[in-house]
Amino acid sequence: MLIAIDGPAASGKGTLARRLARHFNVPHLDTGLLYRATAAGVIDKGYRLEDGAQAASIARGLALVDFDEERLRSREMGEAASVVAAIPEVREALIEAQRRFAARPGGAVLDGRDIGTVICPEAPVKIFVTASPETRAQRRALELAGRGEKVDFAAVLEDIKKRDARDAGRSAAPLRAAADAVTLDTTLLDVEAAFAAALRIVQEKAAPTHG
Ligand code: CDP
Repeated sequence: MLIAIDGPAASGKGTLARRLARHFNVPHLDTGLLYRATAAGVIDKGYRLEDGAQAASIARGLALVDFDEERLRSREMGEAASVVAAIPEVREALIEAQRRFAARPGGAVLDGRDIGTVICPEAPVKIFVTASPETRAQRRALELAGRGEKVDFAAVLEDIKKRDARDAGRSAAPLRAAADAVTLDTTLLDVEAAFAAALRIVQEKAAPTHG
């Protein structure tokens, strides 16, 4: 069971991916963390986020970077991640590890921006998770506040819109739904309802009813 989940910032794809992975008892890879960790490494070395050669070299050596999730999930790192993620050499450096993860014999769930389009175009199940920018900003503001980060709803909404535009507008693996992805709009769905809807999508793909 290989499931590819993509979507814009704070759409709920991470929560959904974790739930699906637990349900099917397969490992889950949050690929955003790879870009966040790359950005953190670049910042720690004092390089510029736009420095493609240095960023790619950090991406290649990621196993050596400390995955401090607390720090990586911060607002600052989400923004920085989307800058390094637009650099083609950085994306190239991270492809193999993601594909290896996806090729695990028992299956896997991966979530990100280009899983269905670039990393696992062969995945039998692809879900593109969306929600309105306001709903996503509300969820992200709650999440950041829960982590003790001081947040302002308007600033978070602005971040999200800016990041969406950067992720969808870049030329390297832009954020978009694969042609065979099913879109799941979670604007009006809570975590349970989104999970139930995703499960129906998976079951439909696994045992398609024709006609
Ligand atoms: O949790 P959230 O959706 O805010 O962010 P994330 O999934 O951790 O991704 C952070 C940033 O990394 C995104 O804004 C993208 O620019 C980049 N990213 C990407 O380009 N490709 C992926 N497969 C995953 C993340």
